[in-house]
Amino acid sequence: MHRTHTCGQLRIENINEEVTLAGWVQRVRNKGGLIWVDLRDRYGVTQLIFEEGSSAPELLETAASLGREFVVQASGNVIERTSKNDKIPTGHIEVKVNSLKVLNAAKVPPFIIEDETDGGDELRMKYRYLDLRRSVVREKLQLRHRMMQETRKYMDSQQFIEVETPVLIKSTPEGARDFVVPSRVNPGEFYALPQSPQTFKQLLMVSGFDRYFQIVKCFRDEDLRADRQPEFTQIDCEMSFVDQEDILNTFEGLVRHLFANVKGVKLEEVQRMTFADAMKYYGNDKPDLRFDMKFSEINDLTQSKGFSIFDQAELVLGICAKGAGEYTRKQLDELTNWVKRPQIGAKGLVYVKCNADGTFKSSVDKFYNQEDLKAWADRMGAMEGDLLLVLSGDAKSTRKQMSELRLKMGEDLGLRDRNVFKPLWVMDFPLLEWDEETQRYHAMHHPFTSPKQEDIPLLESDPGAVRANAYDLVINGVEIGGGSIRIHDRATQQLMFTHLGFTNEEAQKQFGFLMEAFEYGAPPHGGIAFGFDRFCAIFGGSDSIRDYIAFPKNNSGRDVMIDSPSTIAEEQLKELSIKLDVRE
Ligand code: AMO
Repeated sequence: MHRTHTCGQLRIENINEEVTLAGWVQRVRNKGGLIWVDLRDRYGVTQLIFEEGSSAPELLETAASLGREFVVQASGNVIERTSKNDKIPTGHIEVKVNSLKVLNAAKVPPFIIEDETDGGDELRMKYRYLDLRRSVVREKLQLRHRMMQETRKYMDSQQFIEVETPVLIKSTPEGARDFVVPSRVNPGEFYALPQSPQTFKQLLMVSGFDRYFQIVKCFRDEDLRADRQPEFTQIDCEMSFVDQEDILNTFEGLVRHLFANVKGVKLEEVQRMTFADAMKYYGNDKPDLRFDMKFSEINDLTQSKGFSIFDQAELVLGICAKGAGEYTRKQLDELTNWVKRPQIGAKGLVYVKCNADGTFKSSVDKFYNQEDLKAWADRMGAMEGDLLLVLSGDAKSTRKQMSELRLKMGEDLGLRDRNVFKPLWVMDFPLLEWDEETQRYHAMHHPFTSPKQEDIPLLESDPGAVRANAYDLVINGVEIGGGSIRIHDRATQQLMFTHLGFTNEEAQKQFGFLMEAFEYGAPPHGGIAFGFDRFCAIFGGSDSIRDYIAFPKNNSGRDVMIDSPSTIAEEQLKELSIKLDVRE
């Protein structure tokens, strides 16, 4: 037997027991006649003790020769520690070793494998298998495991069937670029890796599966960010004979189940907001509702007072930062510089301090009197001690800039508590989005999303105004999931492709299989997909999804551990009928 217990198991009740442990040497403390070794495995750390006099000399010698990360097996007697450590569950005991076997020696690791490490990001990624030994890292993957089990439990309890869909599929436009895979037996032809199993899950509805889900890898060749990886995981779901309300309720159920069973958090009501309101009040389709700070439009209160910047602006927009009225000149200058950075792009920032005595002090006192400023403060619901921040310009950029400023103020004022969760359904997204670059409309969600019945006449006259039966789940300002009620008849799907600028031939070539399926009895259906990595990161209180993926890619999409992507042999290229034309 390699071990009788794990390194996280022994307690005071085990005193006097003969045990065998196996694990990695985390630390050796050699005080001459006395050697302590911290032995670690997935379950915890147990202290081993070797003592001159009572331990055999060879044993002491072996203990003294141990290096960090050696894999060892130790047998001995559980004894009570003289100086106890209350910080770890095994801290009241130690094992007095009578037999020690080195199962494998180890090179000195390139960084310290403890909660606090000296290893930088790149180094830890290169040796990810060592980083994964650290409990802080492993715990994140344990959280992911828990989420996965609980997801399956809930979905199964709701009669969803988990079906695997293919990974080698065909290249189709669904927002991002595809990763493609050449086919040796079909020279010049390529598979694509799925950006999502969207069309397959719809076909499963046509097959009568009724309720499908899959925890599935998706692949998108897009620019990376903290919340994006080229391969990521979705909880992908689809249901038949449902309307939007059924879907929202079913998946609110999943979200509640996960919060209750993984985090022990009982969620309050999941709020709902239209896309239009989200943009109007938060400048963003994924508002962070952990704090208020809604936008107030104050064009009417600011005009014709001689301040030409506001007079000329399409939009004058304010927010009220509660309790920030004491901001110093220096802090306000810093905020102004912050909004003027190219990443934000504002021309300037107007502030109004709401003083404790009911007066106002603003950066535009030259143009606006106390009465004017009071009207602004009233509009924004401000009280004494608050700070008003105002931006202006064209409507679109001003909303975007204010959205950034709002989030920064929320951060600075400590209002974005990682232990508070504010889920929100954002609904009624536009069906189409104008793309300046290609000068045509794109599907905002994807081309299979149905328009709202009452908006269909607008498809001809004002395509940008057509709303979709589409919804996103947002938690704390992060888009966790998105879905829609689908089109399920050939004529509407064909019409949609026409509006997206596809010729009939193109539509037929790319999606003929789906439109044909719609002619063989397609039920009304809809669904959603959750970004599983993002869901885990939100639960774990982290901004980066990388920590929740066992072997993630770095910012340039590389796996630095296995060194991929990499070139392939000339012979392989030839077999695949590929000629490279790589220019430096
Ligand atoms: P969508 O494209 O909105 O919808 O994706 C669903 C969710 O997946 C997550 N996500 C990502 N997570 C990590 N890295 C990425 N690169 C990445 N891209 C997306 C987001 C997002 O909300 N087939 C549709 C779903 C449907 O209509 O049912 C789809 O894929 O959290």
